[in-house]
Amino acid sequence: MRTCSCISLSGGQGKTTTIFFTALLLAQQGERVLVIDSDPQANLTFYLNHEVQPNQPSLFEVLTGQIATEDGIYETSYENLFLIPADRGLFKVSDYLSSSGTGAFILKLRLKAVADLFDYVLIDVQPSRSQLCLTAVGASEYVVIPVEANVKGMNSLIDTIDFLNEQSSLMAFTGQILGIVPFRDRWVGNTQTLEGRQNIEAMREFAGDIPILASIRESEKFKSAVRQGKSLADLGQKDLQYPFEQIVEKLQP
Ligand SMILES: Nc1ncnc2c1ncn2[C@@H]1O[C@H](COP(=O)(O)OP(=O)(O)O)[C@@H](O)[C@H]1O
Ligand SMILES: [Mg+2]
Repeated sequence: MRTCSCISLSGGQGKTTTIFFTALLLAQQGERVLVIDSDPQANLTFYLNHEVQPNQPSLFEVLTGQIATEDGIYETSYENLFLIPADRGLFKVSDYLSSSGTGAFILKLRLKAVADLFDYVLIDVQPSRSQLCLTAVGASEYVVIPVEANVKGMNSLIDTIDFLNEQSSLMAFTGQILGIVPFRDRWVGNTQTLEGRQNIEAMREFAGDIPILASIRESEKFKSAVRQGKSLADLGQKDLQYPFEQIVEKLQP
């Protein structure tokens, strides 16, 4: 089982998009994939057409140990793809995590119980320095950092690297940063815009040894694919899928 999360400390940076399409791709390749929605905004849960019912367990009950991890896992409409969903009430788990004293390691511990059932676990992470974010980081062997190819994205990148370095020095994060994925990179036809090129160049200068991966291009096709529940290749947009293919390749054992 390999665990990978998408972390970026601002909203709208492409985290959920990256997790969704990477998970679809892995599942289509026959890998058994568990996705975990650890953002109380629950966008990933929504993308996978799941709605947490009042009497049904979600990530909250898994983290607090009220149920066995396996009992918080749901099938999705995709073969090989399973979900631990979130709902808005998930934010309340912070109290439990902070009072436990080992909050950063709780998700890692809960996942041990299902390690044999999945090839990959992908985690969508809340964009704040919260207990939820900490426990997701603590469970991650690999981290992908998506950031918008603009000034807001650059600030998110700076905050995120800073946070990961901090967690690394506390030994709460022991994983590897797989790379930075520029999000909403603007191209006109087959040509990257000057703005896009400059923004990514600035990221490269800041990132040092951390690789800049293939960018996710600005396009309405992504929303359309999510709405239809299809991969980009299924919609005849295989070239737009390349950033996720690259992540899959880098995650391979
Ligand atoms: N390639 C794209 N070009 C433009 N907008 C996109 C693209 N992919 C996704 N979006 C939209 O960008 C917004 C932010 O993406 P999302 O993945 O939800 O970010 P995050 O999870 O970091 O908040 C969403 O509304 C999504 O529909
Ligand atoms: Mg999101």
